[in-house]
Amino acid sequence: MSGVRDRVIVVTGAGGGLGREYALFLAAAGAKVVVNDLGGARDGSGAGTSMADGVVEEIRAAGGTAVPSYDSVATAEGAQAIIGTALEAFGAVHGVVNNAGILRDAAFHKMADEHWDAVLRVHLDGGYHVTRSAWPHLREQGFGRIVMATSTSGLFGNFGQSNYGAAKNGLVGLVNTLAIEGRRHGIGVNAVAPMAATRMTADVAPSEVLAKLPPEHVAPVVAQLLTDECADTGLVLVAGGGQVYRVQLFQGKGVSFAEPPSLDEIGSRWAEITAMDEAVPGTNPVG
Ligand code: NAI
Repeated sequence: MSGVRDRVIVVTGAGGGLGREYALFLAAAGAKVVVNDLGGARDGSGAGTSMADGVVEEIRAAGGTAVPSYDSVATAEGAQAIIGTALEAFGAVHGVVNNAGILRDAAFHKMADEHWDAVLRVHLDGGYHVTRSAWPHLREQGFGRIVMATSTSGLFGNFGQSNYGAAKNGLVGLVNTLAIEGRRHGIGVNAVAPMAATRMTADVAPSEVLAKLPPEHVAPVVAQLLTDECADTGLVLVAGGGQVYRVQLFQGKGVSFAEPPSLDEIGSRWAEITAMDEAVPGTNPVG
């Protein structure tokens, strides 16, 4: 096989915004797509079937292959049902785009446990549950492609998005370990931080900025990570508005102490400890 042709790919949160664009793009490239969407509002309230159904209709009208799934990514049962839909409809699952998401912004002093939990549940637990449900099938067939939707708010921080940023960077942590565990089974696991005008970003940037960020710019990047040919794993890419680039953690040269240092010794060498001028790509010293 080549590209994504005949691959069965699950796109969560595909009833609108970026997920819809991914689903349309992948179907046009010959993938069989499970269009999953809970069909609720931006804050995660409500549910319905019309969002997923609408995108499935669009794909079929264009001659593509797709089935809907209305389950929530946020629970193990929902995730199993989503992957079950792929298995029932197409007999396999080859790729997952963990794209479903909600927003409950608040400055940290106003953050409510309920908003923290809701956002973590959909983004981080959702990424875990859906990937966990697909994983045994990917291992067994010796092939798989996972894309996690991360965010520059998680990678770099953003005012009012402590819950969202923690969840999004949590997904990068998941990518790092799954890239290691998946490598020997032909499973590639990567993250994309998109930038696009959707209902999620409708009121966070001026309209002239949003006009330059159509979701169409992101879909080919996500699709590339799902192809048979793309053997990369553990990457974090930012994509949007015509720009595509990689983000990576670097580590400074630092300082070595033969004996446990005193507070004064740490203080006196603080500039060297925090310097990044001789930084190199970071690695896990115990990995
Ligand atoms: P969106 O709100 O248009 O799409 C999210 C979709 O997920 C919605 O269709 C929603 O119904 C669905 N969804 C929500 N909870 C769900 C659940 N429990 N189970 C299944 N589906 C559920 O927003 P957008 O912008 O398309 O976001 C897609 C992804 O990209 C999200 O993960 C978001 O955090 C991420 N992202 C988007 C950015 C942007 O610039 N638009 C920036 C950074 C990240």
